[in-house]
Amino acid sequence: MGAEFYPHKRMNLIIGPNGSGKTSLLEAAYILSRGRSFRDNQISKAISQEKEHLELFGEICKPNSTVGVGVHVSHNQTEIRLNGQRLERLSDLVREVPLQIFTPRSHELVERGADTRRRFVEWGVFHVEHSYQIFSKRYKKALSQRNAALRLRNKLENIWVEELVSSGSRINEMRENYMAEFSQLFPNYIASLVGDIALETIWKKGWPQHSSLEEALLNGNDQDKRRGFTLNGPHRADMVLKLGRENLIRRISRGQQKLITMAMFLTQAKLLNIKTGLESILLVDDIGSELDAGNREKALEHLKEEHVQVIITSTDPLLERYGGFDRLFHVEHGEILG
Ligand SMILES: Nc1ncnc2c1ncn2[C@@H]1O[C@H](COP(=O)(O)OP(=O)(O)OP(=O)(O)O)[C@@H](O)[C@H]1O
Ligand SMILES: [Mg+2]
Repeated sequence: MGAEFYPHKRMNLIIGPNGSGKTSLLEAAYILSRGRSFRDNQISKAISQEKEHLELFGEICKPNSTVGVGVHVSHNQTEIRLNGQRLERLSDLVREVPLQIFTPRSHELVERGADTRRRFVEWGVFHVEHSYQIFSKRYKKALSQRNAALRLRNKLENIWVEELVSSGSRINEMRENYMAEFSQLFPNYIASLVGDIALETIWKKGWPQHSSLEEALLNGNDQDKRRGFTLNGPHRADMVLKLGRENLIRRISRGQQKLITMAMFLTQAKLLNIKTGLESILLVDDIGSELDAGNREKALEHLKEEHVQVIITSTDPLLERYGGFDRLFHVEHGEILG
């Protein structure tokens, strides 16, 4: 079964009952921009049961150009084309347009450990700094080589230090520059979305604040040998969210966690727009979940003011009454009704 979807360049609302196909529609948009699914690590799980493959076509419309994207997913391979040319690196697709999804699980960005937030920051830095990916790959490779040497106890771990230091310091520098700008914009979004709370972002680079990466690696060498892996380095970085002196971030309500997450996404979209001119796409799946009517409206007001394309889903037909949408869609039994 095929479906066509022509969203407006700003605010779109998709209404439909449970199981009608709303999340699947967002999944299609996500795959077209990211080349993978957010629902499952295996993209082939997005293929309808009993079908052999999944075909998607999309157009990314920019001020001066349009990029055609084609994705063909079968059970054993995925082929992606950009303007008809077979894609060699997924990053070439991902770079075209920053797309984020806000799902009922997005509050995990606040609640969960460092990895989730570090990935969030890295995704932003990737769009802003074109060389980030090169240094990041170099670092990951050297780190896994060093960890292998530590596990094997072959005393070769320190031949990787130079490479870890040269790529790792660059990675950290780019992240710190990014975070400096992020934390200028973030408080405004927090103030208007969440209110007057003492929320701070603290960038932890992944090794002791006052040492160089080289010192940290050499000082930690004995510990690393005992543990069998490299403890210090940018792979341990975190954007720590701290609430007040006693840091009550873990006590904050689920709804507030969602608003903080929304503020993080909006800050990032704004920053990417300032730095690269790119306008982000924000998919919001099930906006009703755990946001009360007042906060829902506050979030919508914000989304409307930004240079972002927003595609929101909801099961609640009453949301149509909110006048801020440019285009409305109804979804029933997998069919999109304009
Ligand atoms: N890969 C797949 N293969 C077969 N069926 C699928 C697949 N993915 C989703 N479905 C089915 O498609 C239907 C629509 O699912 P979807 O998650 O898009 O619904 P939804 O409108 O988001 O519902 P809800 O409001 O409950 O979140 C469901 O019946 C679901 O089980
Ligand atoms: Mg859904």
